[in-house]
Formats: sequence, structure tokens, C-alpha cells
Amino acid sequence: MVVKDALEAARVAADIIARIVRDKPTAALLVATGNTPLPAYAELARRAENGEVDFSRVLAVQLDEYVGLEEDDPRSLWRWTRRSFVDPLGVTRTLRLVDVTTFDDDIAKVGGLDLAVLGLGPNGHLGFNEPPCDEHAKTREVDLTPESLVSNARYFDLPVPTRARTAGMTTILSAREKLLIVTGAHKRRILARTLDEVSSRDVPASWLRGEDTTVVADEEARPRD
Ligand code: PGA
Repeated sequence: MVVKDALEAARVAADIIARIVRDKPTAALLVATGNTPLPAYAELARRAENGEVDFSRVLAVQLDEYVGLEEDDPRSLWRWTRRSFVDPLGVTRTLRLVDVTTFDDDIAKVGGLDLAVLGLGPNGHLGFNEPPCDEHAKTREVDLTPESLVSNARYFDLPVPTRARTAGMTTILSAREKLLIVTGAHKRRILARTLDEVSSRDVPASWLRGEDTTVVADEEARPRD
């Protein structure tokens, strides 16, 4: 669905996430980092503080992480997830992406993912499922593409690590619902490819098709006819 701006996208995304948590207070949520979902997380923190929704029994599942960082490294994506989602929303249950060989089984053991909250990479990646990526890719370690290295250099003044762990494409697709948030004119081209091209390895996000996926895009990101 297309909404006016990033603020409206945050409200709509927050509505979807809050609905899932109200329906299932122990929901397992795969949580994206990046700038796009931050306003939605801030809106959810506000609602949690007002007692409108309770995240205390939710399981926050990590989507991706750089390889080779110390626990307290400012580039750590787990730190990002904690700061933007876990702590402000009052989440107490977490599943970190530390061991790629057990992660998918760990998710299965908790009954699977109820929702994957996702942003869209400039190269069409979801998490760090870098192109080319087929829809059956499992959780694994990957080399980041030059495009992701450039894009992620926005987040901090230190060099971007070149390897990462990512929840697999198949892991993401296994979530019972997927929410893709896309805002800003710089995402227009890749969103058009995501939605309009035949699903393919070239644009990993194009594997997201079907009724269980909601795309919330703002007017600036909306593909033009
Ligand atoms: P962004 O990052 O939300 O900061 O644009 C998205 C991504 O690279 O996955």
C-alpha cells in the first residue's frame, strides 16, 4: 500500500506489528535494522509506554550481523536492534544470530516466525541476502556486495565489515507474514524492480510475493507508471 510519507508509513507498519502482537503476545518477530523501520519502532515504543501494546513476551529474532566484531563494537547490528527495538519496546526474549548452523532449527523449535519486518537494500537485498540469491538460501555467512558496503558506510565512521551472517531467504519467506517498509525516492528504482519484474535471483526481495506480504511504501518510493 502507498502512504503519504515516512511518518504515515511508520504508523501503518506499527499498526501491523501491534496487531500481530495483540493476536499472539508471544509472537516471534524477525527484526530488521537499517534506518527505514526506525520511525515504526519509535511509534511502537510510544504505544508500549502508553500501555496500548505489550511486547514483554514477544521474541525478537535477529535478522543479520557482521562477522568478526566484538560484543560492544559500535557497528554491531545486535546493538542496533537492542537500542532501537528490544530496549525501548520492553522486549525480554531474544534470539540472536550467532551460529548459522543452528539458527534455522532454533527458529523452528520456537514454532517459526510470525512476522518478518524488513527494509529494502539498494541492491534488492533482504537482510544480507545479497544478489544473486535464490529463494531456498538458508541462514549462512556471506560476502557483502560493493553496493551494500557503500550503503552501510552511512551508519558509522568505521570501515564496514565485508562479511556478515544473514537469516536465509527461505527463513524470511517462512515467516507467516512479511512486512516490507520502503521510504524515500532513492528506493524507487529498486522497489519497481522488486514489484514489477519476474521473481529472480537478481533482486532477492522479488521473492516476496503473495498474500502474506504487505509492502508499505511512501509516495516518494512509489514506482511511477
Ligand atoms: P535502510 O537500509 O533502511 O537504512 O535504507 C536497508 C537495507 O540496506 O537493508
